[in-house]
Amino acid sequence: MTQDEMKKAVAEAALEYVVPGEIVGVGTGSTANFFIDALATIKSKIKGAVASSEATAERLRGHGIEVLNLNSVSNMSIYVDGADESNNQLHLIKGGGGALTREKIVAAVSDKFICIADESKLVDVMGDFPLPVEVIPMAQSYVAREIIKQIGGQPVLREGFTTDNGNVILDVRNLKIMEPTVIEQKLNNIVGVVTNGLFALRPADVLLLGTPNGVKKIS
Ligand code: 5RP
Repeated sequence: MTQDEMKKAVAEAALEYVVPGEIVGVGTGSTANFFIDALATIKSKIKGAVASSEATAERLRGHGIEVLNLNSVSNMSIYVDGADESNNQLHLIKGGGGALTREKIVAAVSDKFICIADESKLVDVMGDFPLPVEVIPMAQSYVAREIIKQIGGQPVLREGFTTDNGNVILDVRNLKIMEPTVIEQKLNNIVGVVTNGLFALRPADVLLLGTPNGVKKIS
Protein backbone atom coordinates (compact mmCIF):
# COMPACT_ATOMS: atom_id res chain seq x y z
CA MET A 1 0.00 0.00 0.00
CA THR A 2 1.44 3.41 -0.93
CA GLN A 3 1.42 6.41 1.40
CA ASP A 4 -1.27 8.04 -0.75
CA GLU A 5 -3.44 4.91 -0.55
CA MET A 6 -3.14 5.00 3.26
CA LYS A 7 -4.08 8.71 3.30
CA LYS A 8 -7.10 8.01 1.08
CA ALA A 9 -8.21 5.14 3.31
CA VAL A 10 -8.15 7.25 6.50
CA ALA A 11 -9.86 10.13 4.70
CA GLU A 12 -12.70 7.84 3.67
CA ALA A 13 -12.89 6.35 7.18
CA ALA A 14 -13.43 9.87 8.58
CA LEU A 15 -16.76 10.13 6.71
CA GLU A 16 -18.23 7.96 9.45
CA TYR A 17 -17.92 10.95 11.85
CA VAL A 18 -19.79 13.39 9.62
CA VAL A 19 -23.15 14.30 11.14
CA PRO A 20 -25.93 14.62 8.50
CA GLY A 21 -27.40 18.11 8.21
CA GLU A 22 -24.43 19.76 9.93
CA ILE A 23 -21.42 21.88 8.95
CA VAL A 24 -18.01 20.21 8.70
CA GLY A 25 -14.69 21.89 9.57
CA VAL A 26 -12.07 20.96 6.98
CA GLY A 27 -8.28 21.06 7.30
CA THR A 28 -5.47 21.61 4.84
CA GLY A 29 -2.89 19.40 3.11
CA SER A 30 -2.72 16.27 1.00
CA THR A 31 -4.60 14.05 3.47
CA ALA A 32 -7.28 16.72 3.99
CA ASN A 33 -7.57 16.92 0.19
CA PHE A 34 -8.46 13.21 0.09
CA PHE A 35 -11.08 13.94 2.76
CA ILE A 36 -12.55 16.77 0.66
CA ASP A 37 -12.81 14.42 -2.32
CA ALA A 38 -14.55 11.83 -0.11
CA LEU A 39 -16.86 14.48 1.40
CA ALA A 40 -17.97 15.42 -2.10
CA THR A 41 -19.58 11.99 -2.43
CA ILE A 42 -21.98 12.83 0.44
CA LYS A 43 -22.25 16.58 -0.16
CA SER A 44 -26.06 16.53 -0.37
CA LYS A 45 -26.15 15.27 3.25
CA ILE A 46 -24.23 18.22 4.79
CA LYS A 47 -25.10 21.87 5.28
CA GLY A 48 -21.69 23.10 4.14
CA ALA A 49 -18.10 23.38 5.30
CA VAL A 50 -15.75 25.80 7.02
CA ALA A 51 -12.30 25.87 5.43
CA SER A 52 -8.97 26.25 7.25
CA SER A 53 -7.22 27.81 4.23
CA GLU A 54 -7.84 29.47 0.89
CA ALA A 55 -6.58 26.30 -0.85
CA THR A 56 -9.11 24.15 1.00
CA ALA A 57 -11.93 26.63 0.28
CA GLU A 58 -11.07 26.48 -3.42
CA ARG A 59 -11.07 22.68 -3.48
CA LEU A 60 -14.38 22.49 -1.57
CA ARG A 61 -16.01 24.98 -3.97
CA GLY A 62 -14.60 23.03 -6.92
CA HIS A 63 -16.65 20.06 -5.69
CA GLY A 64 -19.76 22.23 -5.30
CA ILE A 65 -19.61 22.22 -1.47
CA GLU A 66 -20.73 25.50 0.08
CA VAL A 67 -18.00 27.23 2.10
CA LEU A 68 -19.31 29.17 5.10
CA ASN A 69 -17.68 32.07 6.92
CA LEU A 70 -16.69 30.92 10.41
CA ASN A 71 -18.22 34.07 11.90
CA SER A 72 -21.65 32.86 10.81
CA VAL A 73 -21.18 29.50 12.54
CA SER A 74 -21.45 29.14 16.33
CA ASN A 75 -20.35 25.52 16.59
CA MET A 76 -19.49 22.47 14.54
CA SER A 77 -19.61 18.82 15.51
CA ILE A 78 -16.36 17.84 13.77
CA TYR A 79 -13.11 19.16 12.37
CA VAL A 80 -11.13 16.80 10.12
CA ASP A 81 -7.48 17.48 9.36
CA GLY A 82 -4.07 15.87 8.87
CA ALA A 83 -0.90 16.32 10.93
CA ASP A 84 2.85 16.37 10.50
CA GLU A 85 3.48 14.43 13.71
CA SER A 86 1.37 12.93 16.52
CA ASN A 87 2.38 11.33 19.80
CA ASN A 88 0.22 8.66 21.41
CA GLN A 89 -1.56 11.26 23.55
CA LEU A 90 -2.80 12.80 20.27
CA HIS A 91 -0.77 15.97 20.74
CA LEU A 92 0.12 17.11 17.24
CA ILE A 93 2.56 19.17 15.24
CA LYS A 94 0.77 20.87 12.37
CA GLY A 95 1.54 23.65 9.92
CA GLY A 96 3.71 21.93 7.35
CA GLY A 97 1.37 23.52 4.82
CA GLY A 98 1.46 26.84 6.67
CA ALA A 99 -2.23 26.89 7.59
CA LEU A 100 -1.73 26.36 11.34
CA THR A 101 -3.51 29.49 12.61
CA ARG A 102 -6.76 28.99 10.73
CA GLU A 103 -6.54 25.26 11.49
CA LYS A 104 -6.28 25.97 15.21
CA ILE A 105 -9.20 28.39 15.06
CA VAL A 106 -11.51 25.98 13.22
CA ALA A 107 -10.46 23.14 15.55
CA ALA A 108 -11.28 25.35 18.57
CA VAL A 109 -14.83 25.90 17.36
CA SER A 110 -15.42 22.17 16.75
CA ASP A 111 -16.63 19.65 19.33
CA LYS A 112 -14.48 16.83 18.00
CA PHE A 113 -11.15 16.90 16.14
CA ILE A 114 -10.66 13.86 13.92
CA CYS A 115 -7.03 13.67 12.84
CA ILE A 116 -6.28 11.63 9.72
CA ALA A 117 -2.73 10.55 8.89
CA ASP A 118 -0.62 7.74 7.55
CA GLU A 119 1.30 5.69 10.11
CA SER A 120 4.61 7.50 9.45
CA LYS A 121 3.23 10.48 11.44
CA LEU A 122 3.00 8.65 14.78
CA VAL A 123 6.14 9.21 16.88
CA ASP A 124 7.22 8.69 20.49
CA VAL A 125 8.61 12.21 20.96
CA MET A 126 7.69 15.06 18.62
CA GLY A 127 10.26 17.43 17.19
CA ASP A 128 11.93 15.66 14.28
CA PHE A 129 9.47 17.58 12.11
CA PRO A 130 10.41 21.29 12.41
CA LEU A 131 7.81 23.10 14.54
CA PRO A 132 6.09 25.88 12.53
CA VAL A 133 5.50 29.21 14.28
CA GLU A 134 3.46 31.94 12.51
CA VAL A 135 4.91 35.36 13.23
CA ILE A 136 4.02 39.00 12.46
CA PRO A 137 6.71 39.95 9.87
CA MET A 138 8.23 42.88 11.83
CA ALA A 139 8.76 40.60 14.86
CA GLN A 140 10.60 37.84 12.99
CA SER A 141 14.10 38.47 14.36
CA TYR A 142 12.93 39.21 17.91
CA VAL A 143 10.77 36.07 17.99
CA ALA A 144 13.63 33.95 16.64
CA ARG A 145 15.94 35.19 19.42
CA GLU A 146 13.30 34.58 22.10
CA ILE A 147 12.61 31.04 20.83
CA ILE A 148 16.30 30.16 21.12
CA LYS A 149 16.44 31.72 24.61
CA GLN A 150 13.23 30.16 25.94
CA ILE A 151 12.92 26.74 24.32
CA GLY A 152 16.09 26.17 22.28
CA GLY A 153 16.11 24.76 18.78
CA GLN A 154 17.02 26.50 15.57
CA PRO A 155 14.35 28.78 14.05
CA VAL A 156 14.60 29.06 10.27
CA LEU A 157 12.52 31.43 8.14
CA ARG A 158 10.35 29.59 5.58
CA GLU A 159 11.71 31.34 2.51
CA GLY A 160 9.29 32.79 -0.03
CA PHE A 161 6.21 31.85 1.98
CA THR A 162 3.44 34.12 3.27
CA THR A 163 0.49 32.72 5.20
CA ASP A 164 -3.15 33.35 4.26
CA ASN A 165 -3.03 35.93 7.07
CA GLY A 166 -0.08 37.85 5.57
CA ASN A 167 2.51 36.60 8.06
CA VAL A 168 5.77 34.63 7.94
CA ILE A 169 6.64 31.21 9.34
CA LEU A 170 9.65 30.26 11.43
CA ASP A 171 10.27 26.49 11.34
CA VAL A 172 12.02 25.49 14.56
CA ARG A 173 14.43 22.61 13.99
CA ASN A 174 16.25 20.35 16.45
CA LEU A 175 13.64 20.20 19.20
CA LYS A 176 12.79 17.25 21.41
CA ILE A 177 9.33 18.16 22.63
CA MET A 178 8.98 16.38 25.96
CA GLU A 179 6.25 18.66 27.36
CA PRO A 180 4.09 19.78 24.42
CA THR A 181 1.58 21.82 26.47
CA VAL A 182 4.38 23.78 28.19
CA ILE A 183 6.15 24.54 24.90
CA GLU A 184 2.86 25.52 23.25
CA GLN A 185 2.12 28.02 26.04
CA LYS A 186 5.66 29.44 26.10
CA LEU A 187 5.56 30.09 22.36
CA ASN A 188 2.09 31.64 22.58
CA ASN A 189 3.43 34.10 25.17
CA ILE A 190 6.18 35.54 22.94
CA VAL A 191 5.04 38.91 21.61
CA GLY A 192 4.78 38.78 17.82
CA VAL A 193 3.83 35.09 17.67
CA VAL A 194 0.42 34.60 16.11
CA THR A 195 0.18 30.83 16.65
CA ASN A 196 2.44 27.83 16.88
CA GLY A 197 1.92 24.44 15.29
CA LEU A 198 1.62 22.48 18.54
CA PHE A 199 -1.90 21.22 19.08
CA ALA A 200 -1.49 19.96 22.64
CA LEU A 201 -3.70 22.21 24.77
CA ARG A 202 -6.45 21.15 22.39
CA PRO A 203 -5.25 17.79 21.02
CA ALA A 204 -7.06 15.58 18.54
CA ASP A 205 -9.91 13.50 19.97
CA VAL A 206 -9.53 10.65 17.50
CA LEU A 207 -6.52 9.69 15.38
CA LEU A 208 -7.24 7.56 12.33
CA LEU A 209 -3.96 6.08 11.18
CA GLY A 210 -3.48 4.54 7.77
CA THR A 211 -1.43 1.33 7.92
CA PRO A 212 -0.74 -1.38 5.32
CA ASN A 213 -3.18 -3.55 7.31
CA GLY A 214 -6.01 -1.04 7.29
CA VAL A 215 -7.16 1.94 9.34
CA LYS A 216 -6.23 1.94 13.02
CA LYS A 217 -8.16 4.13 15.47
CA ILE A 218 -6.50 5.72 18.51
CA SER A 219 -8.65 7.77 20.92
C1 5RP B 1 -1.13 22.08 7.00
C2 5RP B 1 -1.09 20.95 7.96
C3 5RP B 1 -1.25 19.58 7.43
O1 5RP B 1 -2.29 18.97 8.10
C4 5RP B 1 0.02 18.82 7.65
O2 5RP B 1 1.08 19.52 7.06
C5 5RP B 1 -0.07 17.41 7.06
O3 5RP B 1 -0.11 17.49 5.67
P1 5RP B 1 -0.24 16.22 4.76
O4 5RP B 1 -1.61 15.67 4.96
O5 5RP B 1 -0.03 16.76 3.36
O6 5RP B 1 0.83 15.24 5.15
O7 5RP B 1 -0.93 21.12 9.15
O8 5RP B 1 -0.86 23.31 7.62
